[in-house]
Amino acid sequence: MNLAGRDFLRILDFSEDELRHMLATARKFKKFKKDGRDHRIFPNKNIVIVFEKTSTRTRCSFEVAGYDLGMGVTYLDPTGSQMGHKESIADTARVLSRLYDGIEYRGFDQSIVDTLAEHSDVPVWNGLTNEWHPTQALADFMTLEEHFGDLKGLTLAFVGDTHNNVANSLMAMSAKMGVNFIACGPSSLRPSDGVVAECLPIAEKNGGSVVVTDNIAELDGKVDAIYTDVWLSMGEDKNKWGERIDLLKPYQVNMEMMNRAKPTTVFLHCLPAFHDLNTSTAKDVNEKFGLTEMEVTNEVFESERSLVFDQAENRMHTIKSVMFLTLYKKEDRNEKHN
Ligand code: CP
Ligand code: NVA
Repeated sequence: MNLAGRDFLRILDFSEDELRHMLATARKFKKFKKDGRDHRIFPNKNIVIVFEKTSTRTRCSFEVAGYDLGMGVTYLDPTGSQMGHKESIADTARVLSRLYDGIEYRGFDQSIVDTLAEHSDVPVWNGLTNEWHPTQALADFMTLEEHFGDLKGLTLAFVGDTHNNVANSLMAMSAKMGVNFIACGPSSLRPSDGVVAECLPIAEKNGGSVVVTDNIAELDGKVDAIYTDVWLSMGEDKNKWGERIDLLKPYQVNMEMMNRAKPTTVFLHCLPAFHDLNTSTAKDVNEKFGLTEMEVTNEVFESERSLVFDQAENRMHTIKSVMFLTLYKKEDRNEKHN
């Protein structure tokens, strides 16, 4: 399978086999890392990672994966480049693709990363936009596969702000992998009709399903994994906290919800998570609205059923896989990855 030169913008841009190949390659790289095996396959390549929104996991994963593959890595922070304010996205793409072999971008509208890709001669990787977070979904499915052994037939529920980038990407990945997906949240934050319309026929073809509901009782007895995310995403108006809390409090993931799902149901979260008061944002929300935990209780987050740190680690292995597969050409062949 040859993915050289491809951009990685949305899960829906890839076939089921291509996504499975990305997961298999990530497993291979995870083993290389655990065995301490040198896999500096690209000693002559450099990448740039551009972040217009903040990041811990995605930035560090691209950096570590880049170094492990032998590449040079340049990080551009939200204020550190001319992009957008002094130089158009198209011009930036043309400049960066003269200097680098690959470009990661995290930012606002999906149209920005699409424009970057359109004008770039090298692969562009989506590190999160308002609409999609595809590298996250790959890591999450690697984690599910490690835990359950097989993805087929599993049921994954995303509970909370089902309209967001992570929920969209999980719906797409579930559809591709034949996993049953339940989007459970208030109807005013339901997934967009366009995303559901695109995912539904893919899910049906692969033996999965897509259900959109505002009723948490629909999770009872049938869900293998419950996933949630913050109630207000990066870039959204901070004045909306009150409104979101009112809407989403009934969808907080707590032990009762987990136990009603199945005794074996696992908990997933892309992180960062508001499960205690040890962040300035959580403290602010606590002062204004009195909540001590938000989208997930500390009890669930810290329980043995929580796979959140496996997910975080798998970000690096899956990002390495995506970079390797989209950068690798025959002339890069060497003994370091067979
Ligand atoms: N999950 C995730 O994308 O985390 P960061 O925002 O820290 O990159
Ligand atoms: N939905 C969240 C995901 C963070 C990884 C956000 O966009 O802020």
